Amino acid sequence: MLPEIQIIKTQNPKQKPEDESTLGFGKRFSDHMFLIEYTEGIGWHNARIEPYAPLQLSPAAPVLHYAQEIFEGLKAYRRADGAVQLFRPEENAKRLNSSAERMCMPTLDVEYQVKAMQTLVKVEEDWVPHCEGTSLYLRPTMIAVGEELGVHPSNHYLYFIICSPSGAYYKNGMAPVRIRIEDRYVRAVRGGIGAWKTGGNYAASLKAGAEAAKDGFDQVLWLDGRENRYVQEVGAMNMMFVLDGKLVTAPIEDCILPGITRKSIMQLAADKGMTVEERPIELTELFEAYEKGTLTEAFGTGTAAVVSPVGEMCYKDRSMKLSGGKIGPVAQAMYDALVGIQTGALPDPYNWITPV
Ligand code: PLP
Ligand code: COI
Repeated sequence: MLPEIQIIKTQNPKQKPEDESTLGFGKRFSDHMFLIEYTEGIGWHNARIEPYAPLQLSPAAPVLHYAQEIFEGLKAYRRADGAVQLFRPEENAKRLNSSAERMCMPTLDVEYQVKAMQTLVKVEEDWVPHCEGTSLYLRPTMIAVGEELGVHPSNHYLYFIICSPSGAYYKNGMAPVRIRIEDRYVRAVRGGIGAWKTGGNYAASLKAGAEAAKDGFDQVLWLDGRENRYVQEVGAMNMMFVLDGKLVTAPIEDCILPGITRKSIMQLAADKGMTVEERPIELTELFEAYEKGTLTEAFGTGTAAVVSPVGEMCYKDRSMKLSGGKIGPVAQAMYDALVGIQTGALPDPYNWITPV
């Protein structure tokens, strides 16, 4: 039996953002957080919503030394009628459990995770922003919090959810991004952890990201870690290419994060009559298609990034400029269809919405 959620409300509510148009991503946090603990032999216990505050951890906690950590990202959206809804939260809960399994951590019942998200968002309802392009970003996280330095799975875990009222992930909103195709560093290798949402993947990407930023790029597009031959994904989003009028994306295997936005866009595109292909994409194929004029668009997909058009992709000294630096028609159509469902402006024939 999973525990009831105790609710302890803050006595000192924070000031809500006055100007929602300048929120940015993940900079402000709401008044409360959800927490539940796991101890081997006892199971999950001590579930509560309490005031948002720093965590107390042993300096010997395995998360701090060996990165036994997993996380998720999803959003609560405000509809025009004022109601609040979540987009495919059970998919995030299932993916968290898949990451838990990969990182030798305990799983947590999917329905219970969704109930925790709904209960927390209900408490934080006033923190869900109203302005177009904004939402309350939820960050479910699980960390190993035992007290022991041996390298093996911990016997004590903390799962928590924090909420951040957020706007666009990239500083220029939905404007086309500039991407460096990375040729020196790799993100994921066969048999590694690339397909799971664990902090180590992001730590490993920081140096390439920082060097790319210094050279004027927004993100890095990773190639496979074996041959530097196939395109994989970008640091915080999956990649889609419009090739010969078809929507093409790389297969997940064990190197690419199985994005929930990716899966949703593949379905929306197919239902709009587009041919959708999930297959290995060679970098040389992209250059050849670009020369021929059959690579017409590239865009990223992700919870934080939504649908993010790519204006330019550079590999060493070669460059591909796409859609005349504008938002391409497929990216725009996918953005409109997805955001329409997420915000309740369009009907939801797929049952992707969970009311709060
Ligand atoms: N790839 C990576 C590495 C990510 O961090 C994310 C963000 O969650 C995605 C892809 C997109 O996944 P989703 O659409 O589930 O947010
Ligand atoms: C998300 O889109 O939810 C992510 O987790 C991406 C990133 C901010 C790490």
